Amino acid sequence: MNKVIAIANQKGGVGKTTTAVNLASSLAATKRKVLLIDLDPQGNATTATGIKEEKPNTLYDLFFNNTPINECIYNTSDNYKVLPGDQNLIALDVGIRENNKQNFLSTELKKIDDEFDYTIIDTPPTLNQLTIEALFAASGTLIPLQCEYYSLEGVAGLMQTIQTLSDKNLTSNRVLGIIRTMVDMRNNLAKEVSDELEKHFSNLVFNTLIPRNIKLAEAPSHGVSGVKYMPTSYGAKAYLALAGELIRKVEYA
Ligand SMILES: Nc1ncnc2c1ncn2[C@@H]1O[C@H](COP(=O)(O)OP(=O)(O)OP(=O)(O)O)[C@@H](O)[C@H]1O
Ligand SMILES: [Mg+2]
Repeated sequence: MNKVIAIANQKGGVGKTTTAVNLASSLAATKRKVLLIDLDPQGNATTATGIKEEKPNTLYDLFFNNTPINECIYNTSDNYKVLPGDQNLIALDVGIRENNKQNFLSTELKKIDDEFDYTIIDTPPTLNQLTIEALFAASGTLIPLQCEYYSLEGVAGLMQTIQTLSDKNLTSNRVLGIIRTMVDMRNNLAKEVSDELEKHFSNLVFNTLIPRNIKLAEAPSHGVSGVKYMPTSYGAKAYLALAGELIRKVEYA
């Protein structure tokens, strides 16, 4: 069965897209069939996949032009597939609300349930209808977090939203874990925040730390994940380890 996982945090620039792309690549490296969905109008994940189509079909085409979902899925330069996103998704956000089509993504994903082992959804830095669609469609959410002073603000809100949707039986989504990103343990504050996280969310914090690593930041300009771009880099190794930890959590729990 396809395990649908949303990557969410309404704070910007915390490593959502980097995590989505490199996790997709790492899971694909374990021979699992992976789909990456870009639900962010910024389209950063789409750029990072290196797809060649100039104007690929997105969920906008699926929603407004009835393009079948299979015609919105593309091969990447890596071993996973992508359902791209671009700025048209801003109109999709409005379209879903105005047409009262909440949950449409979840319905669409059921059509391709047996084609993938994992579907990873990258979301925008806001709790808008697109993010809510991802939270509805997913069975689990991963929260990337930078160990900074304000980083925990907002996370409580996101967790509450997921809990509320789940309490109302609107979704079976649960928080799978918090991922510490761009970690630099030479920084005392980062270490303090990281320790606090372990204390307060001990069962939710992933053991794998994603280090700050330039190779992860360079990779998108080459149209590949960091894992493919430089497999021996600390960043790539960390995401491969994270995928292992995730697999143990969702497949062997
Ligand atoms: N571990 C890392 N090491 C070094 N640079 C990183 C790392 N993770 C992310 N970055 C860089 O930090 C910036 C923000 O990362 P990213 O785009 O993944 O965050 P995001 O949460 O998706 O942002 P947004 O909220 O805008 O969607 C990017 O330039 C990215 O290349
Ligand atoms: Mg992003």
